[in-house]
Amino acid sequence: MTASEMLFTTRDLLVGVATASLQIEGGDRNNSWYDWAQIPGTIADGSTPLRATDHWNRWREDTDLMASLGLQTYRMSVEWSRIEPRPGEVDRGVLDRYREEVAAVRAAGIVPLVTLHHFSHPSWFAGLGGWTAPHAVDRFLHLVDVVVDALGGLVTDWVTINEPNVYAVQAHLFGEGPPATRDWGAVRSTLRNMAIAHCRAYHRIHEMQPEAKVGFAHHARVFAPLNPRNPFHRGVAALDRALFQDLLADALLGGRFTRLLGRQPADVTPGRHYDYLGINYYARSAVKGLADGTFPGAPVNDLGWEVHPQGLVEVARELHARYPAPIWVTENGTADAADAFRSRYVFEHLQAMAASDLPFERYYHWCFVDNWEWREGEGPRFGIVALDYETQQRTVRDSGRFLAAVIRDGGVTRTTYEEFVAGQSYPSGPR
Ligand code: BGC
Repeated sequence: MTASEMLFTTRDLLVGVATASLQIEGGDRNNSWYDWAQIPGTIADGSTPLRATDHWNRWREDTDLMASLGLQTYRMSVEWSRIEPRPGEVDRGVLDRYREEVAAVRAAGIVPLVTLHHFSHPSWFAGLGGWTAPHAVDRFLHLVDVVVDALGGLVTDWVTINEPNVYAVQAHLFGEGPPATRDWGAVRSTLRNMAIAHCRAYHRIHEMQPEAKVGFAHHARVFAPLNPRNPFHRGVAALDRALFQDLLADALLGGRFTRLLGRQPADVTPGRHYDYLGINYYARSAVKGLADGTFPGAPVNDLGWEVHPQGLVEVARELHARYPAPIWVTENGTADAADAFRSRYVFEHLQAMAASDLPFERYYHWCFVDNWEWREGEGPRFGIVALDYETQQRTVRDSGRFLAAVIRDGGVTRTTYEEFVAGQSYPSGPR
């Protein structure tokens, strides 16, 4: 066995990082999350997205840092509230600023992937009922037109909407995001409208840009019965999967609306509404009821989420069997302030992907620089680059160097494994 022996290759993959505008840009007061963060008690540490990583001003430095790590692709989102600060009023200066950034990303040899909606939207859109309102779809399609028109020459790869399932339940069931209502009707109308918006955006973007690759980022997790012999645990796990995952896959990917989402919309025809399968994968849930749990003693991250690398392949396999397409892991990552197990986490997920026969094409690590984690605020550390929020100093973590080595070598060599992964282990969750 030689030191340069390749444990597995990643040659068929484009590897990079993912971010979302509100979590990094800072400086914008015109959006739903900024408004919500003003309400005492909503954000764990009382922070707001106003400072974040100041990426709005530091994007050049951040692009250079990405290039220095050799990243091959970058998933970013554009902030609707900046682009359309008032209904129908488009800020061309903001679009120019995004154009400049995307051009710099490309000039650095990095392929951009742009998300059009990632959890946040303008305060005025929220005020008009957000995604529950019937006009939401047309308003979103207007944004799509504007952004694709402005960035189309530089970007061909698009994510329409990030995690409709997570968005809908956080906003309208669990009180974990604005407007924090508890209303099943609102969950349903949000999911329905987001599904219609995606399907229509899919065709709209292709009309404007025939070579485009369009998909959505589906939050997929493994729902496993805590006790497989318990019929209730088994039943709830199956229900979670059907409601949280399959229902939306059928509507957004296949354009097929089942009864729970209301009747088939007149403007959506069943058929293919995706060019790739976008999967955000983080964890497995041990199911014994509505609340999430972990298996006793399972490996967990700083937020108590179970680490289960094989699950990425499991969820991808199920989705791919029904909706075959190249698979883009649009997010995968972990909260690890000490950087004590992140390299192992990346290693094991990439290894599981490499060992499978599935057509994985891209891997986006969540995230780049530690960023504002929604209601968790500035606490959790997901970055391959550490951030000092006070000074805005960025420091590449070992896991960043690990990812750079994997990209450089086109896989994981024994030397790299020994240097970054061998000594790492996960904390165990409660027994
Ligand atoms: C979201 C990200 C978020 C990450 C980690 C994903 O569900 O798309 O915006 O930061 O999880 O919590």
